[in-house]
Amino acid sequence: MSEALIKDFGKTVVAWQRRHGRNTLPWQNTRDPYRVWLSEVMLQQTQVATVLGYYERFLARWPKVTDLAAASLDEVLAQWAGLGYYSRARNLHACARAVADLHGGEFPGTAAALQTLPGIGRSTAAAIAAFCFGERVAILDGNVKRVLSRVLAFSGDLSSSAAEKKLWDHATELLPERDVDRYTQGLMDLGATICSTRSPDCLLCPVQPMCLGQQEGDPTRFPVKTRKLKRGRRENWWLWVESVEGRVLLQQRPDTGVWAGLWTLPMFDDEASARAALPGGELETLPRLQHALTHFDWVLHTLRAGAVEGMTPGGTWVAREKLVDYALPAPLKKLIEER
Ligand code: ADE
Repeated sequence: MSEALIKDFGKTVVAWQRRHGRNTLPWQNTRDPYRVWLSEVMLQQTQVATVLGYYERFLARWPKVTDLAAASLDEVLAQWAGLGYYSRARNLHACARAVADLHGGEFPGTAAALQTLPGIGRSTAAAIAAFCFGERVAILDGNVKRVLSRVLAFSGDLSSSAAEKKLWDHATELLPERDVDRYTQGLMDLGATICSTRSPDCLLCPVQPMCLGQQEGDPTRFPVKTRKLKRGRRENWWLWVESVEGRVLLQQRPDTGVWAGLWTLPMFDDEASARAALPGGELETLPRLQHALTHFDWVLHTLRAGAVEGMTPGGTWVAREKLVDYALPAPLKKLIEER
């Protein structure tokens, strides 16, 4: 890496962030680690627009980390329902309990110590430490990997941990001497707005003059990642059973899997098993749902029974107006609300 780049990159990002970055998001202009941590966890894999409402509701219900620690996991999952990647909610709850029980209700004040807590990886720890304590540490989330690998024309294969480690080292070398909080936000803003995956807006980019990826002709060649995710496909059947009084039969998912701890309609691996669970029932086949996750595409079929009184699969009968108290995955919530 050239000395000129090390000297100019950070300053340029900081100056650009001040004028053109995002500076009024609800988790900014605070140094409260609880607020910053909550936003960073929600923003992993989730867009700002989606996070806003959840963030406000969490803070209204649990203003302090000790309030969140005192909540039950079921309450936290119910509030998280719809945000996806539910292991984040479990870790969030475990982390709040660890802060309350092991750290006297105060988040530790360094990236190294934050990183020992559940659900806080190296990049999230660094973001919290930079925003709240002004610590001079590098972040490297997915967006920032894209920005830095382009600026450096970094040709290492990020499927390998050796290359990833090298990019972390570069990220650390590029840190400016001061204003690391604004710099950190600036990198995030560049990644989220200008330096997009498919069509980066290089004409608007403040670091375009020093971007080696651009000088080489095609910044979208970076980041290099040869081992692509192999996406699978999964299929399940839901049985939608409603009682004559209009209660819906739900089951809680086990502690493992994509929807661990959430509530869904009774779920089966094949159509025959679903039908066998409600013998003699008249079943209507609803349009199938497609749900895309990182590792697989999920096809969900729904069989709906009319009002039933006889034998049904086990589960919990929940009145429609009480459904808000249960953690329902987004596609199920949508299905029930629409019909
Ligand atoms: N994504 C991750 N952290 C963020 C932040 N602080 N602001 C906006 N988007 C983000």
